[in-house]
Amino acid sequence: MRTVLITGANRGIGFEHARQYAKDGWRVIACCRQPNAAPELESLRHAFRNQVQVLALDVSNRAAIDAMATSLAGERIDLLINNAGSYGPQGIPDGIAYQRLGSIDYSIWEDILRVNVLGAMKMTEAFLPQVERSSRKLVVMMSSDLGSVTNNIKPGQSYCYRSSKAALNMVTKGLSLDLKARGVTVVAMAPGWVRTDMGGKGIADLEPHDSVAAQRKVFEALTVADSGRFLNYRGEDVAW
Ligand SMILES: NC(=O)c1ccc[n+]([C@@H]2O[C@H](COP(=O)([O-])OP(=O)(O)OC[C@H]3O[C@@H](n4cnc5c(N)ncnc54)[C@H](OP(=O)(O)O)[C@@H]3O)[C@@H](O)[C@H]2O)c1
Repeated sequence: MRTVLITGANRGIGFEHARQYAKDGWRVIACCRQPNAAPELESLRHAFRNQVQVLALDVSNRAAIDAMATSLAGERIDLLINNAGSYGPQGIPDGIAYQRLGSIDYSIWEDILRVNVLGAMKMTEAFLPQVERSSRKLVVMMSSDLGSVTNNIKPGQSYCYRSSKAALNMVTKGLSLDLKARGVTVVAMAPGWVRTDMGGKGIADLEPHDSVAAQRKVFEALTVADSGRFLNYRGEDVAW
């Protein structure tokens, strides 16, 4: 049985990954900040008792990441999805207000970087032994089209979120260079504009089901030769 570890698995894209991988027969280690306030994940765990394990994890707590990696020291993790991400406390569109020139909230920006960049890096560092022990050895960083410098063509907004995903892309590239010789594939994924709390349920293009089903096809086809790519859910390269 293959194993996937997903951060931020209680809602949105992360939950949908947990649901689809469980349904597909994978073992799912589903991490979220508050398992007691994650009813959908609890139902999934109930439906797939032998496959789904729910663990409490805030990815901005690096000591907690180390503790979890120690407690899962003997595991093999085929696929690590660093999905947990933040646009700040208000999400889109209200969160745009504190991400504009003239009204930047620097403390929110620091929090976003701590989750989106440092959290994903720390998870990868901490769980590398488990990933290397697997046969698949795949790490996915949930990035965003908004992390593309090339495609940032309108007057600046979302400085905090955009810069966090651009930094995550750089981390992805660096990890791919360090880990290619060890057979580990690391990619950045732009999931599309998805109907979640962050993407906006009424306005975004894609249902979580469709984005995640497409992402999983992309993941399945990846080899170590793809390591370091920035891809969208259709498997196309996104301009850095
Ligand atoms: N939706 C889109 O259109 C879109 C587009 C491009 C990229 N993305 C990326 O896709 C990923 C998932 O986003 P989504 O749309 O599913 O957003 P979402 O519905 O807002 O979910 C975000 C998830 O991240 C978790 N999270 C936030 N801070 C965390 C922390 N410190 N520790 C652990 N978990 C934390 C949240 O947990 P809590 O419930 O505890 O807050 C939640 O599970 C993110 O990385 C996002 O940047 C989304």
